Amino acid sequence: MDKVIIFDTTLRDGEQAAGATLNIQEKVEIARQLEKLGVDVIEAGMPVNSRTELEAVAQISKEVRNATICGLARALPADIDRAWEAVKEAEDPRIHVFLSASDIHIMHQLKKNRNEILEMARAGVARAKGYLQNVEFSPMDASRAEPAYIYQMLEAVIDAGATTVNIPDTVGYAMPDEFGSLIEGILKNVSNIDKAIISIHCHNDLGMAVANSLEAIKRGARQAECTINGIGERAGNASLEEIVMSIKTRRDFYNLETGIDTTQIYKTSRLVSDLTGFPVQPNKAIVGGNAFRHESGIHQDGVIKMPITYEIIEPQAVGIPASTLVLGKLSGRHAFRERLAELGYSLTEEEFTQAFAAFKELAEKKKEITDRDIESLLAEEKRTVTEDYRLKRLQVTCGDKGMPTAAVRLITPDERTIEDAALGTGPVDAVYKAINRLVGVPNKLTEFSVKSVTEGIDAIGEVLIRIESDGISYTGRGADTDIIVASARAYINALNRLIAAKRAA
Ligand code: KIV
Ligand code: ZN
Repeated sequence: MDKVIIFDTTLRDGEQAAGATLNIQEKVEIARQLEKLGVDVIEAGMPVNSRTELEAVAQISKEVRNATICGLARALPADIDRAWEAVKEAEDPRIHVFLSASDIHIMHQLKKNRNEILEMARAGVARAKGYLQNVEFSPMDASRAEPAYIYQMLEAVIDAGATTVNIPDTVGYAMPDEFGSLIEGILKNVSNIDKAIISIHCHNDLGMAVANSLEAIKRGARQAECTINGIGERAGNASLEEIVMSIKTRRDFYNLETGIDTTQIYKTSRLVSDLTGFPVQPNKAIVGGNAFRHESGIHQDGVIKMPITYEIIEPQAVGIPASTLVLGKLSGRHAFRERLAELGYSLTEEEFTQAFAAFKELAEKKKEITDRDIESLLAEEKRTVTEDYRLKRLQVTCGDKGMPTAAVRLITPDERTIEDAALGTGPVDAVYKAINRLVGVPNKLTEFSVKSVTEGIDAIGEVLIRIESDGISYTGRGADTDIIVASARAYINALNRLIAAKRAA
């Protein structure tokens, strides 16, 4: 059976989404999970962007050995040289060169003519080819370019050594039939197309990214560029999980396969959501909280009698655990360890001991501990373990008539205990002001949201915030059964990320 190469660009186009900022450690963690998921290619970043981005790509190249690692570059010598510097230690490195191909971009943005652009594309690929074998080229905004010019450009870059030619619908403008015809046109009109793999890269501005990708695949494309949860520039990119599960679920229709271990999809989706701070909408296909929930009585009746009546995918196929076993305060180490293993976590003994202590503490406050509680608890543990500033104590008084007051005690990076108090317009404001007095890093709070992890009055509350400093946004998350504590943790988390980024810059 024919295979579709899955090219994941969560760490490059996904990270271009407004408000997503990942540090090096987080990028490496996502890349490792993408490797477990079985993606063929990881586009790890655009190394010329910054020293930190180059380092992230270089580290991923060293640590992730079972996927091709790709660095993005404009068709400019400095970009290509930086991309090579970043990926050169990968097991299978790739440089992805891109250059605008539509007249709209060529005239209004690049202010050049078609011949000059053609030469830049050819020279860019030739330069990358001087470094390595595996070179991809993208004519940006291809769906709004004249097809004949795209054919000419592809022929030139394949002659120069491109082994993959990627057709981007950069602004999400194409309709499925039109985009599919472009792929067919390329197959018919590019004389050397047998020397390259056709790839597609679709954006979701009109909600067509997955439909366009699948139509292109049906008509001959064999690499799909996509992101976890569909995150990306503006309305995002084609969602990896939707493309992969469409190909798998409708094998009868596509007669194709991918190398993805679909049981890793849910875990990867949660990790990306957690680290980028982008929640997954409840009705999102494949990974949304409601994707496998049946609410209507008729549907529930059908699913109880035979799941296939209303379920086209088994939740376990994407890694949503089958078990509904709930843990509680009487559950011991053994039960907790087994549950973690079923959920796909492998912790060191030290991490396990810490996680078990946190589990026991939670079980004192909350009667039933579900899988989502465990995920939230482990994410919180992981966040706090690596933090510079840590929350030690928090006390708040508030009410309808009083003056909201917060007293905060923190542990500093050099393990000192510091404390202060502040008044605020509400309890969260008071907490944030007290923390500001202690940490003293100017910033602006731009987003604050709280959601409960599960139903019930004793549920864990997860707080997501974004703060801004020098035009850069930093995400913070915190979880606790007390939402004021969760808010304090989220703020400290965001401040730690801000401080670490400034230190690395
Ligand atoms: O959307 C786009 O055109 C891109 C290219 C760099 C492939 O992201
Ligand atoms: Zn893109």
